Amino acid sequence: MSIFEKVEPCPPDPIFGLAARFKKDTNPKKIDLTVGVFRDEDLKTRTLRSVKEAEKVLMKLEVDKTYLPMGGSDPFVKEAQKLIFGETFCKDARGTLFGVQSIGGTGALRLAGEFLSLEVTKTAYVSDPTWPNHVGIFEACGLEVRKYPYYNKENHILDFERMLNTLSGAAENSLVVLHACCHNPTGCDPSQAQWKELSTLILRKKLVPLFDFAYQGFGRGLEEDAWPVRYFAEQGHEMFVASSCSKNFGLYGERIGLLSVLAKNEQLAQNSSSVVRGVARVTYSNPPRHGAGIVTTVLQDRGLSELWRAEVDQMRKRAEEMRCMLYDALSGQFGKDKFGFLKRRHGLFSMLGVSPEQVDRMMDEYGVYLARSGRVNLTGLSEENITYVMEAIVKTMG
Ligand SMILES: Cc1ncc(COP(=O)(O)O)c(C=O)c1O
Repeated sequence: MSIFEKVEPCPPDPIFGLAARFKKDTNPKKIDLTVGVFRDEDLKTRTLRSVKEAEKVLMKLEVDKTYLPMGGSDPFVKEAQKLIFGETFCKDARGTLFGVQSIGGTGALRLAGEFLSLEVTKTAYVSDPTWPNHVGIFEACGLEVRKYPYYNKENHILDFERMLNTLSGAAENSLVVLHACCHNPTGCDPSQAQWKELSTLILRKKLVPLFDFAYQGFGRGLEEDAWPVRYFAEQGHEMFVASSCSKNFGLYGERIGLLSVLAKNEQLAQNSSSVVRGVARVTYSNPPRHGAGIVTTVLQDRGLSELWRAEVDQMRKRAEEMRCMLYDALSGQFGKDKFGFLKRRHGLFSMLGVSPEQVDRMMDEYGVYLARSGRVNLTGLSEENITYVMEAIVKTMG
């Protein structure tokens, strides 16, 4: 009898499981619109030029390989927070804002979840739909995960009234997970007026906002995308921001992210910071150096920083172009209205409005791979493959 006899296999991950299936597929026409990774015109995920330049600088510096502190690199935290909150806010916030370097955005969410579960709440609200890993992460932290209505799939609009209604009924201190921009999977973000209403409600109901900020720069621009986070910070929320350098620095596999926490006063921030660092200590002890070194080098150097900003703009524009191209192709077939919503979305993703069964057909019959929620990564499209993708959609939906 083996100790592993009763082990049931985990169901495949809804995104990475499909990416693995894609890899095995021998269909020469196969197209990958699954994982949220930016792809250029050649459908390649190339290392950014600013990142390569920063790596050259780091090589010359001959930095050592000793451990970073449990909370990570201070210069990284400082630079990354300026990008999120703006320089002035960071200066004014002084000791009330702290940050802990994390293993990507996922690690930041996990640190926040563990801290909240230990100290603040056992309930988390996530949007319906959301990035599936949100549910897994917060459940793993011992939180009960509930959903708030977010997206009306029939009309392709934000289900704002129902979202407010549900959150109005949430118990004090409940965690509310918000996508700061480029909502994953829908690409549908609240307007500034709606963010203001949410802020008021969350303050009134004494809920705890956590911004998942994985796509800064992919929505409208680096500064513009930070607006909801900065607005909430100015309104005096005690809040959490889980940010990631995976997408906007293209540092996916380097696993570099940041958990930022804003508390009412310096003492509370210090106490809480020690608990978050304690969570890090018993999880992975100290975060990796390389990604933090790259981001810090880019952001501290004016020339590299300008190059990087231009590269982020380029990535965003490519996603926008592919979105427009998809809309044009589909509206030629289905008329202007059916997919009009595509044009009102931001970021790498949109939902096509196809059922899981239709997604299965697209994968099995055409080799066009997308998440079973109907989410597509728009940068998986190109001028070469758009007609084929459009035909697959028409034949599946028509
Ligand atoms: C909404 C959202 N949050 C967080 C992440 C985590 O990113 P990472 O851990 O790769 O930095 C992702 C990645 O796809 C995401 O889509």
